[in-house]
Amino acid sequence: MEVLELQNKTHDETRQGEAFAPFTNEANSFKKHFYIESYGCAMNFSDSEIVAAILNQQGFGATTNFEQADLIFLNTCSVREKAEQTVRKRLTEFRKVKESKPQMLVGVLGCMAERLKAKLLEEEKLVDIVVGPDAYRSLPNLIEEAESGQKAVNVLLSREETYADISPIRLNSNGVTAFISITRGCNNMCTFCVVPFTRGRERSRNANSIVNEAKDLFEKGYREVTLLGQNVDSYYWVDETKNEVVTFANLLEQVALVSPLLRVRFSTSHPKDITDEVLYTIAKYENICKYIHLPIQSGNTRILQLMNRTYTREWYLAKVDRIKTILPDCGISADIIAGFCTETEEEHKETISAMEYSKYDYSYMFYYSERPGTLAERRYADDIPEDVKKRRLAEIVETQNKLSYQSNLQDIGKIFKVLIEGESKKSGNDWKGRNSRNKVIVFAKGNYNLQPGDYVNVQVTECTQGTLLGNIVD
Ligand code: SAH
Ligand code: SF4
Ligand code: F3S
Repeated sequence: MEVLELQNKTHDETRQGEAFAPFTNEANSFKKHFYIESYGCAMNFSDSEIVAAILNQQGFGATTNFEQADLIFLNTCSVREKAEQTVRKRLTEFRKVKESKPQMLVGVLGCMAERLKAKLLEEEKLVDIVVGPDAYRSLPNLIEEAESGQKAVNVLLSREETYADISPIRLNSNGVTAFISITRGCNNMCTFCVVPFTRGRERSRNANSIVNEAKDLFEKGYREVTLLGQNVDSYYWVDETKNEVVTFANLLEQVALVSPLLRVRFSTSHPKDITDEVLYTIAKYENICKYIHLPIQSGNTRILQLMNRTYTREWYLAKVDRIKTILPDCGISADIIAGFCTETEEEHKETISAMEYSKYDYSYMFYYSERPGTLAERRYADDIPEDVKKRRLAEIVETQNKLSYQSNLQDIGKIFKVLIEGESKKSGNDWKGRNSRNKVIVFAKGNYNLQPGDYVNVQVTECTQGTLLGNIVD
């Protein structure tokens, strides 16, 4: 959950390394060990847990120490150039380890593997295995191939693969919050975006397997699940045994009914697809969190059209109004791109004013990074100078910092139900958790006998731009 918790930072800055040994007692019985690091969006972190399950079945245990690993995997992201550079830099760091341990295998998984395919083997000599997001079931064969000294590649995309039957092994888990993938791929063709090329066509996972995964997590003590997809609102699955269609609203309801003690979150919502039915379902269940990640990308209609986002500025802002009407206390966050092709100063200012209108709790903000093969790369010149892009991004970040602080100031004095996720990083005397609106709250443990996974009422007494601070109230 670190991914979603980081405030006002780019996804590229997040790295969840250090897989852990899932079954410590059995760890020694594994014949070999793998180490996995994930980059990019929550989808990749979730996929690494599927990879861990596949490898586990083959007798590979996870290790947190890459020097002890027989296999090193990087689950990579291609969304911006910087994300790819980070991975390349990391690969150079593994070169030394490989020099002293030539039998160790290095695999690149995820979106960069899919985008670059076998070319990656030429460019990065230490890489032995390249495997795309839909081909993880072939990992055991690929590893065998690589062990025999050949380079192994599988980057086939699928129209059906959802890994529905694979029970993920939770990596770096706090034991309280977990991701559940509900769709894979994306059918939207936002002109700036590489994801449709790296993740393929959109498909929805069997609803029963999703609900069962949520039940299983709840029974194991988890108290919050985040339903994941590039565009969760377009979830659509037909239950052929009952001849019933399951929409995203239906799925949310089914997961919410697992237990009132299990919180439900979801990400990401495309503004064009989130329906009133979804908003009313959120309103109906206390345990569906009142928080919507609703990427705007730009606040100007001409730029939105160039991006092929399929909505206008007015349409987006009307959606924000609709959310606030049906869910008055709902938090909203966004993704924003500064300096897209041909963006004028006036158009950039419209992004700032749309942020102010929407009053985002926080945002993930980026400057435009041209990606090979995308429609924008083929059709438009990347004509905004880098210094202008960076200055516009700085203005967007500054606006968001102000909005986040204002939003937090309004919470002072309020009492929130908080799910405890663990100890605060700064002090063992404090707990850290979140409220329904996804705001992080840090508070003193006091003399209460509480533990992660418990709910507690906390009154906010102070705040920073990123965090609420408070005290437990009875
Ligand atoms: N499916 C999600 C977003 C996936 S990518 C959605 O539709 O909202 C996460 C974010 O990265 C995007 O929302 C966008 O803001 C940003 N992004 C994607 N491609 C980018 C690019 N070429 N340059 C800069 N930011 C980009
Ligand atoms: Fe990319 Fe657009 Fe799909 Fe999101 S909806 S993954 S931004 S193409
Ligand atoms: Fe990156 Fe792939 Fe996610 S490109 S943002 S890891 S879908």
